[in-house]
Amino acid sequence: MPRLGNLLAGCVIFWPQKIPPRTAVHPNSFSKNSLNPIRLDIKLNTLLSNTDYQISEEEFIRLIRLNDLDQRIDKTPALVEDFEEELDSALSEAYENQEGSVKAHLFLQRILYRINRLKLFWYDDLENYVNENSPFLFSIHNRIETAWQGWENKDVNIEPLKNLEVESALRRRVKEDLDPQSSGDALFLRNEITETGYRRLLAIASLDALVEASQLSRVLGGASNEVHAMLTRIFLEEYGGGKLDRKHSSFFSVMLKELGMQTRPEAYFDLVPWNVLANINHSFLLCERKRNFLRYVGSLLYTEVSVPAVFRNYRDASRRLGLGQAGAGYWDLHIKEDERHGQWMLEDVALPLVEQYGSSAWEIVWGYDQQRFFSARAGKAIVRSVRQAENV
Ligand SMILES: [Fe+2]
Ligand SMILES: [Fe+2]
Repeated sequence: MPRLGNLLAGCVIFWPQKIPPRTAVHPNSFSKNSLNPIRLDIKLNTLLSNTDYQISEEEFIRLIRLNDLDQRIDKTPALVEDFEEELDSALSEAYENQEGSVKAHLFLQRILYRINRLKLFWYDDLENYVNENSPFLFSIHNRIETAWQGWENKDVNIEPLKNLEVESALRRRVKEDLDPQSSGDALFLRNEITETGYRRLLAIASLDALVEASQLSRVLGGASNEVHAMLTRIFLEEYGGGKLDRKHSSFFSVMLKELGMQTRPEAYFDLVPWNVLANINHSFLLCERKRNFLRYVGSLLYTEVSVPAVFRNYRDASRRLGLGQAGAGYWDLHIKEDERHGQWMLEDVALPLVEQYGSSAWEIVWGYDQQRFFSARAGKAIVRSVRQAENV
C-alpha cells in the first residue's frame, strides 16, 4: 500500500469526526506511522493519570500528529471541541486565583512545551513536524502563553526597574549570584541526598541538559557585531566546537550512562514538574521573539553566572555518593566554563547592549530578575520531587 494510503487508513481508525469515547489510553499505543511511531517518550505524569487532563493531553498528541490538521478543523470544528473545553477549564483553574491548581499548571505547561519543542529538530520522523506552522497550534500556544504570562506578572511591578542605573544594577546582581549563601535546599542536595534522589535530580535536569543551549542557537541569526561574536563564541563552547564528545550535553549523557540511566532526550519527561517546564517554556518565549532579545540576554547572564555555585553542590553530592570523574564531568565542566561565560556575558554582551539600547536597557535587568525567580521556583520543585523520591 502506498504511504499516503497507510496514513489515511490510520486516520480513519484513530480519528473519526469527533473523538469518542473520552477514555484514557496510553498514548504510546497511538501512531500514525508504524515505522517511526514515537516522537516523545510519553508516560503521562502520575499527577495527571486518570484525569480529564490526561485524556485531553492524549487528544492533543493525536491532533499534533494529524495531517491536514487545520483543514480538518475547518471542515469539522467538533474535532477539537473537547480539547478546547478542557483547555478553558485548565486556564481558569490555573490562572484565575493566586496559586492555581497544580494539575492544571502541569497540563498547560506540557501542552505549551509540546508546541514549543517543534521549534527544535529532534532527528526523528519528518512527519512529526507537519503542523509546525499550524494556525490552530499557534492559537493554542498564544492562549496559554498570554494567560500564563498575565498570571506570572500580576503581582510584579517592573516600573522601578526602569529607573535603575543599569550597569551598576547588573554588577551588583552578578556579584551576589556568583557566590550566594547556601540555602537549606542546597545543603540538603550537597550533604544528604542519596543515590535515589540524585537519580531523580538527573532525570529532571536531563530534559533541558540534553539539548542544552538550544535557545541560544535561536538568537544567533542576523547581523554581526562584537556582541554577536561573543554570543557565538559562547555557543560554540556549549556545542563543543563541533565535536560531539565535547558538546556539553554529551557530558550529561556520560553522567546518565554512569548510572545506567536513559540518555535519550525527553526520556524522563514524565517526571518533570510544571515549574521546570515553565522555566523551559519561558526560555522559548524569550528566544523566539526578537522583541524580547534584551530580556533573553539578562536571562542568559543570570544562568551563566549562577550555575557554578549550584553545580558545586551537585558535584559534591556525586563525589559523596562515590561516583567517578565521568560521573561528575558535566558539573566540573560548568563550574569552570560558566564562570568565564558569566564574565563574558556581563562585560562583552550585556554592558555593550546597555550602551547601545539606553532607555530600553533596563529590560536586561528585567530578564535577569525574572530568570532568577523562575530558576529558584524550578529549583524548589526539583528538591520537592527529590525528597518524594527519597521517601518512597
Ligand atoms: Fe553548558
Ligand atoms: Fe555556559
